[in-house]
Amino acid sequence: MTSEAISGAPGGTTPGAGAVAAGTAAGAGSRHARQGEESVARGASFHEMWRELAPLGRDSGSGGYRRYAWTGADADSRAWFRAQAESRGLGYEVDRNGNQWAWLGDPLAGDAVVTGSHLDSVPDGGAFDGPLGVVSSFAALDELRRRGARFTRPVAIANFGDEEGARFGLACVGSRLTAGQLTADRAQELRDADGVPLPRAMESAGYDPSAIGPDPERLARIGAFVELHVEQGRALDLSGDPLGIASAIWPHGRWRFDFHGEANHAGTTRLADRRDPMLTYAETVLAARREAELAGAVATFGKVSVEPNGVNAIPSLVRGWLDSRAADQSVLDTVVAGIEAAARDRAERAGVDLRVVRESFTPVVEFEHALRDELGRILSHRTGAPVPVLGTGAGHDAGILSGSIPTAMLFVRNPTGVSHSPAESAAEDDCVAGILALADVLEGLACT
Ligand code: GLV
Ligand code: MN
Ligand code: MN
Repeated sequence: MTSEAISGAPGGTTPGAGAVAAGTAAGAGSRHARQGEESVARGASFHEMWRELAPLGRDSGSGGYRRYAWTGADADSRAWFRAQAESRGLGYEVDRNGNQWAWLGDPLAGDAVVTGSHLDSVPDGGAFDGPLGVVSSFAALDELRRRGARFTRPVAIANFGDEEGARFGLACVGSRLTAGQLTADRAQELRDADGVPLPRAMESAGYDPSAIGPDPERLARIGAFVELHVEQGRALDLSGDPLGIASAIWPHGRWRFDFHGEANHAGTTRLADRRDPMLTYAETVLAARREAELAGAVATFGKVSVEPNGVNAIPSLVRGWLDSRAADQSVLDTVVAGIEAAARDRAERAGVDLRVVRESFTPVVEFEHALRDELGRILSHRTGAPVPVLGTGAGHDAGILSGSIPTAMLFVRNPTGVSHSPAESAAEDDCVAGILALADVLEGLACT
């Protein structure tokens, strides 16, 4: 770590670093004093944006973000994006799937260079996963204007809707719809935990759900998409590099396990007489850990719902969601098959009925080599050293769009590796390095 870290939570701290709240004058002041006038110009728009975005959708109890698709917090983040676009004189539009766009140049000219990320969050997410990419995109554009860059291709900044899938269970809904990887029919059937259908949620947020669907014309006008993202592991911290370039995304998916048992009295039902789905669920969680460990994969039950959810009642239904990922599709298939087999075996012995539904699946993504190598050339020119190329187990809109257009990703070092948590962080120096790198990339791709 080269400097203090910035954290999304007010007064939040990062282990091993003097942390400051995002965008506070204290943090900005010490940096500015050390870095001089030029860096003040570079960092200023970043700090201002970070400070404005920091409170939106943050839960005061947990300090984490709850920016779920089509909620009030989402609307606030979208209003922020729109204001950023308009204050810079960029052309603002929302596409048929609710993704936001800020254009410099003619959106219809074709061969556009697009950057951006997402503003929504997982439950109690961190400040960086998504927003760092969006904020850095605006800051990189400011940097290019400061440099007096002459653009030869249109440039856009995008905020893709519902990347995390926290509300409707399916990740990357905005980019999946656009790329035709999610049909409008299937999207119309998505429901949140309260049974609210996606179309109704979109409508209440002021968007037209009847328009959703593939957008090949829009994609045909894009020559490259580059997403900057906080790293969600510690590879860069361990290698001592502030930035990295993505090589690939592991195949990953979500499976819902419904364990149906028999509700009964917790005090009067003999253990031998129970059909307790919680037990089978618990055994399945252990099996998932075992299968993942054996295969060098990951498997997580991070969400569970219980009916009737009473302290003194044996549950009638336990529903658990498995997220599993591996470097290789065949390994992932083996892991998930092993977990399901273990669950079925335990369910049969306990008199529990089991239903398994695959809710989503994203195959392996290998980012386009030509664009990736171009990024490597541009970035090593600045630093004089090769930039590490690394794979990730995290899903991204860039991964979804890679099936339709050339995409690439830039990672910014995460000193703890923690992500999908309020403790997620990045050092201020690294964020600025990310902005300058993204500016270099945009300049290299879209300017004379
Ligand atoms: C998104 O961040 C995911 O990898 O689940
Ligand atoms: Mn995420
Ligand atoms: Mn993300």
